[in-house]
Amino acid sequence: MNDPHLNLDHFWMPFTANRQFRGKPRMLVSAKDMHYTSDDGRQVVDGCAGLWCVNAGHNREEILSAIKAQLDTLDFAPTFQMGHPMAFKAAEKVAELAPAGMSKVFFANSGSESVDSALKIALAYHRARGEGTRTKFIGRERGYHGVGFGGISVGGIPLNRKVFGGQLLPGVDHLPHTHNLREAAFSRGQPKWGSHLAEDLERLVALHDPSNIAAVIVEPVAGSTGVLPPPVGYLETLRAICDKHGILLIFDEVISGFGRLGTPFAAQYFNVTPDLICCAKGITNATIPMGAVIAKDFIYDALMNGPEGLIELFHGYTYSGHPVAAAAAVATLDLYRETGLFEASRPMHAAIADAAHGMRELPNVIDVRNIGLIAAIELKSREGKPGARAYEAMVKCFERGVLVRITGDTIALSPPLIVGQSHLDEIFDTLGDVLRTID
Ligand SMILES: Cc1ncc(COP(=O)(O)O)c(C=O)c1O
Repeated sequence: MNDPHLNLDHFWMPFTANRQFRGKPRMLVSAKDMHYTSDDGRQVVDGCAGLWCVNAGHNREEILSAIKAQLDTLDFAPTFQMGHPMAFKAAEKVAELAPAGMSKVFFANSGSESVDSALKIALAYHRARGEGTRTKFIGRERGYHGVGFGGISVGGIPLNRKVFGGQLLPGVDHLPHTHNLREAAFSRGQPKWGSHLAEDLERLVALHDPSNIAAVIVEPVAGSTGVLPPPVGYLETLRAICDKHGILLIFDEVISGFGRLGTPFAAQYFNVTPDLICCAKGITNATIPMGAVIAKDFIYDALMNGPEGLIELFHGYTYSGHPVAAAAAVATLDLYRETGLFEASRPMHAAIADAAHGMRELPNVIDVRNIGLIAAIELKSREGKPGARAYEAMVKCFERGVLVRITGDTIALSPPLIVGQSHLDEIFDTLGDVLRTID
């Protein structure tokens, strides 16, 4: 770290080994397009779009100027029983990108809040229709849905739940995860094995009875657990079973939304339309925090039933549709559309897949997975030290000018959608060299 006067004692860092970090801090001080600059003046190519969120690359002038203009005009206005134009414009832009029939947008401030909001909307929907016994949720092992109590309850990442285990939501069950190295290692794109795992939903429905189940929530592509593309036919089976039993299907698209798979949402890529979509991150290109739930019209309509003067949903955040976030969203979604970014990034899908699968013979690599502009390289864990090998790889990559994300012993790559072949070469050449050097 360069600045000896910077006091590291007070910021309690999230999802970080705080004491280890303070021993050897890694500081980013500015960014532009595909690169960060570290505090010692090095260029660091961004292999993970920040945290899967800077989809159009860093510090895009079009978005920054819209944010500055909004700050000069209206810093804040409430959206409880009041409105301001930018929130309506942002909702319209989000709805334009959503699958047909999903035109209602509820704003939150993060992915975690969007998940909590979607779960609550599902409960409110069933109750409004006189099916208030539908209160259970089905998540999936290894699922990540943020860190609210709702999200960790339906989520399936053991360490995210362990310490808080006594206080999770009751009435939650989990589908099995789809990770299986014996059957599907080194699959390119969607694994052919595993769609039968979706049929487990029938077992859970029989166990709990459909009349008690509100919704199923999954990430169409599981990200934070280490990148698990859905097996061929898997999402279609979930959709069919939900339809059969009147259960809502929620896609958590916090990382797959806004072009990660070359389409606005994974729903369009897989041609499976859920009832609710959770999104965040790329909605503002990560400039200003914002999350959203996109709902099918019938869900909204079911809640618009009581007397007109009645608040239909007792839920919302002070900053739902915050003017500056809304301005950032409008500018971001315009930028995506005007530059044709999602379509333009598609040729890089094969390039990242080729580069990632080119790593398969390197030491300790036990799987490579990819889909859209996402790739993951799973390493064999060191005996008794899960995560240590990937952590070492991450630090060495950073020292050599490449930012990668790790989760357990999986290295996940999800560069901004503006990534070019030369960036991929740099990322994978560096990663390959690093993997050859660590034991
Ligand atoms: C699928 C998914 N859901 C929810 C979240 C939580 O989002 P946030 O960190 O903005 O609360 C994330 C974050 O990575 C995510 O990947």
